[in-house]
Amino acid sequence: MQVAVSLLAFDFLYLSKQLEEVEDQVDWLHFDVMDGHFVPNISFGPQVLQDVSKQSALYKDVHLMIYEPHLYIDAFMKAGADLITFHYEAYESDDDILSLIKKIKALGLKAGLSIKPKTQPKDILAFLNELDLVLVMSVEPGFGGQKFMPEALDKVAFLSTYKKAHNLNYLIEVDGGVNDQNAPSLKEKGAEVLVSGSYIMKGDIKENIARLK
Ligand code: DX5
Ligand code: ZN
Repeated sequence: MQVAVSLLAFDFLYLSKQLEEVEDQVDWLHFDVMDGHFVPNISFGPQVLQDVSKQSALYKDVHLMIYEPHLYIDAFMKAGADLITFHYEAYESDDDILSLIKKIKALGLKAGLSIKPKTQPKDILAFLNELDLVLVMSVEPGFGGQKFMPEALDKVAFLSTYKKAHNLNYLIEVDGGVNDQNAPSLKEKGAEVLVSGSYIMKGDIKENIARLK
C-alpha cells in the first residue's frame, strides 16, 4: 500500500519542517489544487509545488480540482509534477478528456482521472485503458477533514475487478477521510494508493503513518 500525504493538512508556516517529518515515512506528496470554481475553496498553484520540489525528492502527485486543467499542465510539469490527475467532471466532452490524458502522457508524466462521489466508474470506462491512475473521491472535493463516504468502497472494488479482467495498468487511489479505520477495507477492495491529510498530520505524524501502513 502506497501512502500519499495531502499538503492541504500542513501548516504552511512550517512547510519545510513538516516536509522533513514526512520525507522518509510516506511514498508520495499529494498536492490539492483548487480554483474556487470547480470546488468552493482556493488552495495553491504551481509555485508551492516548485518550492517543495527544491527540498523533497518524493513522488509528486498533483490533484487538480479546477476547470480548464489543460491550461495549467505545462506549469505543473515545469514545477516538478510526476503525476497529474484532473477531474472527469471538469469537461463535457469525452474528446477533451482523452486529448488531455494524451497530452499529459506526451509530456512524459503519468496521467490520472478523478471521479467525485456522484460519478460512477462506469462513466469513465472509455478512458481506463489510457490511464495511469484513477482517483476515487471519498468526500466531496474542496476541503480536508471531512467524513469518509463508504460508497467509495464499491467503486474501488469495481475498478479493481475491471482492471484484472481487462489486464489494465491504472493504479487505484482513494482520497478523502482516509484513516486507520477504513484503510483495511479499502485495501481489501483493491485500493493501491491512499491519500491522507488530517489523519496523518494530527498528533504524532510518524505514528499515524506507521499505523496507516
Ligand atoms: C479534498 C482533497 C483531499 C483532502 C484529504 O478535496 O482532495 O486530498 O484534502 O484530506 P483528509 O485526509 O483530511 O480528508
Ligand atoms: Zn486530493
